[in-house]
Amino acid sequence: MFTAAVITVSDKGAAGEREDTGGPLIREMLTKAGYQVIYHSIIPDERERIERELIHCADDLDIALALTTGGTGFSPRDVTPEATAAVCQRPVPGIPEAMRWESLRVTPRAMLSRGAAGIRGQTLIVNLPGSPKAIRENLASVLPAFEHGLEMLRGEKYDCGQP
Ligand code: MTE
Repeated sequence: MFTAAVITVSDKGAAGEREDTGGPLIREMLTKAGYQVIYHSIIPDERERIERELIHCADDLDIALALTTGGTGFSPRDVTPEATAAVCQRPVPGIPEAMRWESLRVTPRAMLSRGAAGIRGQTLIVNLPGSPKAIRENLASVLPAFEHGLEMLRGEKYDCGQP
C-alpha cells in the first residue's frame, strides 16, 4: 500500500469562503484504489506556499504520491504547474498528456489545464484541475498506471516484466 497526500490549492478554500469538495473526492478515489491518504491541506494560490508544501510531502513525509487540485488554468493566480516544475527533479510529461488526451473526449476546455507532473526524490507529484468533474475525469484516466510507476520509483521493482 502506497501513501498519498492531497493538496487543495485554492484562495477561496484556504480562506474558508468555499467548501473543499475536490480534496475529499480525490481522497475517496485514492482510498478506493488502495492508497493510504496520510496528509491533506488547503493552501492559497501562492507559488512559494505550494512549493513548500510539495517539498514537505516529499522530503519530510516521504509520501509516494502527492496530488494537487486547482490552480492549473489561465487566471493570473494559477501557478500550481510552475511551483510543481520548480520542485521536481524529473518531469513526467506522459501523465498530463494522457489526462488531456482522455479529457478532450469530454470537453475541448481540457486543453486549458496546464497541469504538470514530476518526480522529487521518491515522490510522484501530479497536478489535477480544480472542479470535482474535472478531477474525476482526469484522475480516473491515469490512476491505474500509477502503481507500477511507484513500484519502480520506490525500488520495489526494477523492470517492467512485460513482454
Ligand atoms: N478536464 C476535464 N476532464 N473536465 C473538465 O471539465 N475543465 C477544464 C480543464 N480541464 C475540465 C478539464 C477547465 S474549464 C479549466 S479552466 C482547466 O481545466 C483548469 O482548471 P483549474 O484552474 O481549476 O485547475
